[in-house]
Amino acid sequence: MQSITVERVAVPKEKPDFSNLGFGQYFTDHMFLLDYTEGSGWHTPRIVPYGPLTLDPASMVLHYGQETFEGLKAYRADDGRILLFRPQENIRRMNRSNRRLQIAEIDETLFLEAIRALVREDIDWVPTHPDTSLYIRPFIIAVDPYLGVRASHTYRFLIILSPVGAYYPEGIDPVSILIETEDVRAVKGGTGEAKTGGNYAATIRAQVRAKEKGYTQVLWLDGVHRRYIEEVGTMNVFFSLDGRVVTPPLEGSILPGVTRDSAIRLLTSWGVPVDQRAISIDELVEAADAGRLSESFGTGTAAVISPIGSFDYNGRIIPVSGGRIGPLARRLYDELTGIQWGKREDSFGWTLEI
Ligand code: COI
Repeated sequence: MQSITVERVAVPKEKPDFSNLGFGQYFTDHMFLLDYTEGSGWHTPRIVPYGPLTLDPASMVLHYGQETFEGLKAYRADDGRILLFRPQENIRRMNRSNRRLQIAEIDETLFLEAIRALVREDIDWVPTHPDTSLYIRPFIIAVDPYLGVRASHTYRFLIILSPVGAYYPEGIDPVSILIETEDVRAVKGGTGEAKTGGNYAATIRAQVRAKEKGYTQVLWLDGVHRRYIEEVGTMNVFFSLDGRVVTPPLEGSILPGVTRDSAIRLLTSWGVPVDQRAISIDELVEAADAGRLSESFGTGTAAVISPIGSFDYNGRIIPVSGGRIGPLARRLYDELTGIQWGKREDSFGWTLEI
C-alpha cells in the first residue's frame, strides 16, 4: 500500500462549541487527498491542511456532475476509544457508486487507512458532548478540464471531517413529512441507488416547498406510478403495520443505507419480522385509517433514527403514534447509538477502533 504523507497545519483552528454544533458547519484542521490519472491509477495519498481547492473552471465535475460521495461517523466512547461504525460498508458502497458513475474504483485498504489516518490526525475534533460525533465525508470529483460529455481521465478523491450534532433540529423528536406528488427523485436504471450529488440536487425544489409549508422533509414516491413509497429526504423509511415492519425493497432507485441494513438486522434479531416489499401510498393511508399503522421512522447515517410524527398527503394529515416517538424507533435509537458510542455490547462486530 502507498504510504500517506502528512503536512500539518502551522496553527490549529479554534474548536467550535461542541454543545451547539448543528450539522456540517465546521471543518477540522486537515483533509486527505488522492489523485487518479489514467494509466497510473490512484497515487500520491496525502494529508494536508484543510483549505480551498484550486480547480480548472472547465473541470468536468462542475459541468456534468460526475462525482460520488459517502457519509460515516467516528464516535468517542466513554473509555476514550474512537469508534467507526461499519466503515467497510461505506467503502464498498462508494465503489458501487463509482461503477455507476464510471469513476475509477478505489483500493478498499487504502480507503480505510486514509479514514483512520485522517481521524487520528484530527482526533481532538471528535466531539465529547452526548449525541455528537465526527462526520466523515469522502468524495470523488472528475477533474479533466474538458467540455465534452464522457468519463473523465483524471479524478481527485478527498476526505473532509466535520464535528456534528443532530441532523434535524428536532433531534430524536418526531418530524413532519410532506408526501411529494409532483417531483420525483429517481427511477430504476437511473442513479437513485448511487450516492452522487445529482440525486440530491433533484430533491431541493421539493424540499424548499415542504419547508415553506412547515414540514421537515419530503417522502418520495416512485417515478413511474407515483404510488410506491421510496425514501424520505436523507433517510430510508420504515413503517410498523400489524406487528410487522415494512420497508421498501432495494430495487435500483433508493439508497442502500447502512443504517437501514443495521435497523433490519437489529429488528430481526429481536424477533420483529421485517418485510422488504413494495408499499403503496394507498396502503399506507388505508392502514392509518384503520388504526393499523402504529409507527414510522427514517434511518440514515446523518439522521440516525428519526421518528415520523405525521405525513401530509395532498393536504390530508396522517398522524402517526400520536405525534410521539414509537417503541421500535426508541429501542432502535438506544441500541444503535449505544453500540456506536461503545456503551452497549457490539454483538454484530460493527464497530472498528481507530
Ligand atoms: C448521510 O446520512 O450520511 C447522508 O449522506 C445524508 C446527507 C446527504 C446529509
